[in-house]
Amino acid sequence: MKALRIRGGTPLEGVVKASGAKNAITKMLVASLICDKQCVFTNVPNIEEVDTTLHLLKQLGMVYTWDRPNGVLTVQTKELSSRHVVQRFSGANRIPILLLGALLGRTNEEVIVPIVGGCKIGKRPIDFHIKALEKLGAEFELVDNGDTKLYKAHAPKGLIGTTIDLPFPSVGATENAIFAAIRAKGKTTITNAAVEPEVFDIIHFLQKLGVRIALHKDRTIVIKESSTFYPIKHHVITDRIETASLAMAALSTGGSVYVKGAEQASLTSFLGALRDIGVHFIVHDDGIEFTKTEKLRGGLHIETDVHPGFLTDWQQPFVVLLTQAEGHCVIHETLYENRFGYTDTLKEMGADLQLFSECLGPTQCRFHGHNFMHSLSIKGPTPLRGRMIAIPDLRAGFAYVMAALIADDESIITNLHYLDRGYENIDGKLQMLGAEIERITLEDPAHQNLQDLLSRRTTVLSN
Ligand code: EPU
Repeated sequence: MKALRIRGGTPLEGVVKASGAKNAITKMLVASLICDKQCVFTNVPNIEEVDTTLHLLKQLGMVYTWDRPNGVLTVQTKELSSRHVVQRFSGANRIPILLLGALLGRTNEEVIVPIVGGCKIGKRPIDFHIKALEKLGAEFELVDNGDTKLYKAHAPKGLIGTTIDLPFPSVGATENAIFAAIRAKGKTTITNAAVEPEVFDIIHFLQKLGVRIALHKDRTIVIKESSTFYPIKHHVITDRIETASLAMAALSTGGSVYVKGAEQASLTSFLGALRDIGVHFIVHDDGIEFTKTEKLRGGLHIETDVHPGFLTDWQQPFVVLLTQAEGHCVIHETLYENRFGYTDTLKEMGADLQLFSECLGPTQCRFHGHNFMHSLSIKGPTPLRGRMIAIPDLRAGFAYVMAALIADDESIITNLHYLDRGYENIDGKLQMLGAEIERITLEDPAHQNLQDLLSRRTTVLSN
C-alpha cells in the first residue's frame, strides 16, 4: 500500500505553481462531446480525475493525446462509438451523470449511464439533473438490479428548448442542463443557475466552440440552439481549491508561500476570511503571495455558500488552519449535510472541535431541523500530534496532510487515490516548499516497523 510519510513542524516557504482546475477541465471534456470538432486544452492538471474521465470518454469514441509534462490535451470525438457508459465507471466520479446532457444532445438514440459516485460527503442526489432534462423532453427509466443501478434515457421527439428553474444553484445540474440545451430546438433559459468560476470557464469554452450562450443578470443563463461549431484552443483556469489549499498549508505551519497562477477574482471570499484572521497577502500579476503571520486571530464566523460565497471545498483545510488561530471560530456548512466526518480524526490529533446540528450563525440553511451535524466550533491554538490516517475523501485528505505538516512528529497517510484524484504532484509541490514528506510503500521491509508503531499509537490515543 502506498502512503505519505510526513514529519511535521517545519514552516513551509517558497514559490509553487497551482495547476488547472479539476472541476472545469473534466466538464469541458464532457461538453466537447456535443460536436465533432477538435479541442486543444492547455493548463490541464495531471491528476487521476482527468485520467478517469478520459478513459470513460474514450470508450464513447473520443480520441485524445495528452502531453502531460506541458499540460496540453487534444481531444476529438468525430463519431460516438457507444452511448452506453459501462458500470465500472459508476463509482469513479461525478462525470457519468453529466454525460446524460451531452449525449442526449449528440444522439437521438437511447443513452445508458450508471448511477454516479464521487466523494462520500452527503447524499448528493441527482433529482435536479433529471428534472431539468425531463423538462427538455428526455424520458428516463431507472433500472435497479440490486448492486447495479443505471439510468436509461432518450428523447424520442428530440430535445426542445424550455425554461428550467433550478430549486438550488447546483453546479452539476446547471452544467448538465447547459450541455443538453445546446442542441435543443429553440431557446432554453436556466434560472437560479450556478455561477461558480468553473461554470464561467465552461461557458467561455462553449462560446469559443460556437455555442450561442449568454449569462444574464440574477443567475440566468440563456442557450440558443447551436449547430455551427469550430475547432478551438482553451486555457483552463487555475484551480482555486488547490491554490487556497497550498496557501493554508504554508500559513498553518507558520510559513509563507507565493502561489503562481492564483487568480484573485475566484478567491475573493477566501482572501476576505484570511484577512479577518490577520493574514497579509500581496496580489501580483502572476499570482498571490501569502506572507508569514506570527499570530493567527480567531473570532471568525464562516458560512459555506454558493459562489461568490465561501466555497465548501475550502472548508476542511480552513478548519485545520483555524486550529492554529487564537480564540474561538465557527463554521456553518450549508452546502453538504455531512461534510464534517473528517473532524473525528483531527480531534484525535489534538484539535479542540465540537459539532452541532443547529445552524450556528445568522442563516437558517436547508439542513435546519434535520439533525445533521453541520456546524463546527473550533478553539485554538492547539498543538497537533501525528498519527496513522486513512483518507476518507479528497478535501478531507488535504486537511489531514496539513494537520500532519503542523504536528511536530510523524504521520502516515494512506488511501492516496482520493488525494491524487484532485491534487497534481502534491508531495512534490510540498517538498519544494521544504516539507518533510515522502511517498512510500508500506509493505517495503524498510517501513514495516513504522506501520506497527503508528497503529499502536493510534489505539493508545483513541482510548
Ligand atoms: N443537489 C440536490 N439535487 C441535485 C443536485 C444537487 O439536492 O440534483 C444538492 C447537493 O446534494 C448539494 C447541493 O445541491 O447539497 C450542491 O450540489 P452541486 O450540484 O452544486 O454539487 P456538484 O455539482 O455535485 C460540484 C463540485 C464539488 C463542489 C460543489 C459545490 C464537481 C465535480 N464537484 O459538485 O466539488 O463541492 O460543486 O461547489 O464539480 C470537490 O472538488 O471535492 C467537490 C466535491
